[in-house]
Amino acid sequence: MHDMEANGARMPALGLGTWDLRGSVCAKVVEAALRLGYRHIDTAEMYDNEKEVGEGLRASGVARDEVFITTKVWPDHLVPADLERATRDSLARLRLACVDLLLIHWPNPRIPLADTIGALCRMKEAGFARHIGISNFTVPLIEEAVRLATAPLVTNQIEWHPFLDQSRIVAACRRHGLSVTAYSPIARGRAGNDAALRAIGKRHGRTGGQVSLRFLIQEGAIVIPRTARRERLMENMAIFDFALDPAEMDEIRKLSRRGGRVVDWSGAPEWD
Ligand SMILES: NC(=O)c1ccc[n+]([C@@H]2O[C@H](COP(=O)([O-])OP(=O)(O)OC[C@H]3O[C@@H](n4cnc5c(N)ncnc54)[C@H](OP(=O)(O)O)[C@@H]3O)[C@@H](O)[C@H]2O)c1
Repeated sequence: MHDMEANGARMPALGLGTWDLRGSVCAKVVEAALRLGYRHIDTAEMYDNEKEVGEGLRASGVARDEVFITTKVWPDHLVPADLERATRDSLARLRLACVDLLLIHWPNPRIPLADTIGALCRMKEAGFARHIGISNFTVPLIEEAVRLATAPLVTNQIEWHPFLDQSRIVAACRRHGLSVTAYSPIARGRAGNDAALRAIGKRHGRTGGQVSLRFLIQEGAIVIPRTARRERLMENMAIFDFALDPAEMDEIRKLSRRGGRVVDWSGAPEWD
């Protein structure tokens, strides 16, 4: 599996997203993904599936230290005492002593970022997380988080796919050595149906979904596509044995547009 290095962390460039996978379906998909060769699983306390992610991990028979597990703390739990409790609860549900990566799921403007980042760094010091990072942080918030952190932040997990230009955030992450993890990397299925992506895919014998993932990999991202289907687990893995040429990369970059987001931010806390 291909790895990405950032600020001292080594992370598999492909992971399995698990939002909306629940119960025995989640456990089975995680087990199947690990048996097929996935080595990175993305969950969150908010997904209500950490218990099943842990079950899938154990059922797969893959050694714990071969799998990179990410979880995230929900913005309601960013006061330091809450963040520590949320982290301990996540570990208890996963039945793990530590996660490989602990993220702030969304920033919360009602809680001082210094307090939250301080608490996040302490989770690493305490050995609850091998690495720490952020998610859904804007450029000014990335700058502030990096300034406040006493341990390296290794990723900013953001929505990114061909229909959304994230170059400003990506540049800010690069300046500070953070990787970028692309969530919704198939634009919740839209990439699979897009005519331009499909046409490019046809030249390589690939699908629109694979072209979207390959595009992000060549842009330097880590990708965490989600699927509940075994055949798509395999499809989404087959992205490391072909390459898009510079003209194809440019053509795909031109698909980005205003309103290209697929994830609804309306429930997120607003900054003044
Ligand atoms: N940090 C955050 O705030 C945040 C926000 C959103 C997501 N995430 C993380 O990122 C992960 C991925 O994002 P996502 O779940 O929003 O969207 P996604 O991975 O872009 O898309 C998932 C959807 O696309 C379908 N799909 C999967 N592979 C496909 C393919 N090759 N071709 C066509 N369709 C395909 C899946 O359906 P089937 O199941 O039928 O295959 C599913 O409906 C999440 O699961 C979660 O772990 C994080």
